[in-house]
Amino acid sequence: MTRRGFLKWLSGLALSGAALTGYAFAIEPGFRLRIQRYAFTPPNWTPGLKLRVACLADPHLGEPHMPLSRLRKIVDTANRLEPDLVLLLGDYAAGHRFVTRQVEVADTARVCAGLTAPLGRYAIMGNHDWWDDLTAQRERKGPILGERAFTDAGIPVLENSALRLEKNGRPFWISGTSSIVALKTGRPGVYDSQANLAATLEQVTDDAPVIHLAHEPDLFPDIPRQVSLTLSGHTHGGQVRLLGYSPIVPSSYGNRFAYGHIVEDGRHLIVSGGLGCSILPVRFGMPPEITLLELG
Ligand SMILES: [Fe+2]
Repeated sequence: MTRRGFLKWLSGLALSGAALTGYAFAIEPGFRLRIQRYAFTPPNWTPGLKLRVACLADPHLGEPHMPLSRLRKIVDTANRLEPDLVLLLGDYAAGHRFVTRQVEVADTARVCAGLTAPLGRYAIMGNHDWWDDLTAQRERKGPILGERAFTDAGIPVLENSALRLEKNGRPFWISGTSSIVALKTGRPGVYDSQANLAATLEQVTDDAPVIHLAHEPDLFPDIPRQVSLTLSGHTHGGQVRLLGYSPIVPSSYGNRFAYGHIVEDGRHLIVSGGLGCSILPVRFGMPPEITLLELG
């Protein structure tokens, strides 16, 4: 190769590198949105119970990547899907330091209250919602700011609690546990859980199917067969995912629960790819998604 040819090749490489970087740091996390659908009949399901559920996970509000205006568009898109039920899977607080302007969780909750579904919308809290509440960290207990904001906005929060709902006379339960890495301990990588799975499932008082919400999928090995379907967020599919493999996953189980529909021992888990970012505002091969379930 001539020197001129080499320089051309090198500048081409730099340009495509810059384009790729721009895409991964701006376009994919800040502008893309896909609907990821799953249609199946979970185990222990009631014949004739058909549920369309929209799940919104990990919006991680904060400008410039996830301003309230972008959340409003996501809410509008979710409403157009005409779900029976909307489930919010936690981590409303910004998850990285590259935020030019913070968003108050009360404002986030008010925008989420624009979600419309005949059977309602329900939320759980994520680890970042716990970590953001310094009083809760100091006092080692909730209710955290996020829980109060969502409750005040008219969105019930399932913090170790269960609710019985009905569609066309067919009952089902939604239950939710708190974050398993809610409280910082001062030791790196060591957190205290606020989840109480046993106490949550004790509130389920009949045989109707149970949909359980657990922000972190690492709770899945503890979920009993009684639960028809577990829904999680937290991992963002690793944010960078190529050929079904995510190099970095915030889970003790690596890629096992990183993303998608996982079936183990007849138990079902769906991990949403989420909407926002943590650690770094970057996504590649894992665009922000609304997770849409067609159950029954
Ligand atoms: Fe999280």
